[in-house]
Amino acid sequence: MAHGKLISFEGIDGAGKSTQLDHAARCLAARGLRTRVTREPGGTPLAEQLRALLLAEPMDAITETLLLFAARRDHVERVIRPALAAGEWVLCDRFFDATLAYQGAGRGVAEDWLRGLQAQIAGDLEPDLTLLFDVPEALAAARLRHSGAAADRFEREPETFFGRVRSMYLARARAAQTRVCVIDARAPAEQVTSQVEAALTRLTERSAAGRPVSGGPGEGR
Ligand SMILES: Nc1ncnc2c1ncn2[C@@H]1O[C@H](COP(=O)(O)OP(=O)(O)O)[C@@H](O)[C@H]1O
Ligand SMILES: [Mg+2]
Repeated sequence: MAHGKLISFEGIDGAGKSTQLDHAARCLAARGLRTRVTREPGGTPLAEQLRALLLAEPMDAITETLLLFAARRDHVERVIRPALAAGEWVLCDRFFDATLAYQGAGRGVAEDWLRGLQAQIAGDLEPDLTLLFDVPEALAAARLRHSGAAADRFEREPETFFGRVRSMYLARARAAQTRVCVIDARAPAEQVTSQVEAALTRLTERSAAGRPVSGGPGEGR
């Protein structure tokens, strides 16, 4: 059976990741791919409990980082790797880029330490495609205000924090141009969706071209 693909959705809070995730999953499912939507922190019963703590409980940056990696370890071992091995296309709301952006650039945690922890808990697991939803921090903040939902511990951070997070995301995109696709998320949702679809099409075409045909329709996906 063909190995699945991991697609991460990244960007600052309010960029529009969650809005696009379900649509992206439907878009892939319409192409006959088996998809799984998940998120970080979270995605397993244990990791969802850690998420609730991370979003609400005051804690320092190192504690936050360790809880995040504990959640990721559980998620990688119990959901992401098994799903990929079963041939599923995993769409994940945030992955390691978010750790470098939020805990690294945002909170000032040492990048080397973050990279070392990532290697320990996830090995060389890396997204096949990362969609980076890029918006200026002021626009993201305005969207969150309009949404009316209560702000979590991250969303309450000032715009200067999100400026650092966004800069790191963009630096990651420049350093990994084949993996990371920057989406101009300032646009209306339908236009953002078109950009997402184009990026998914490029990945599915690359995947189809690179994979030997195994069996008839319905097999090996
Ligand atoms: N392209 C867009 N234009 C305007 N508003 C948007 C757009 N995408 C999302 N929103 C709105 O912005 C808010 C944050 O979107 P959301 O998808 O939850 O962002 P994220 O998951 O990146 O934090 C929501 O209220 C959503 O309806
Ligand atoms: Mg979201």
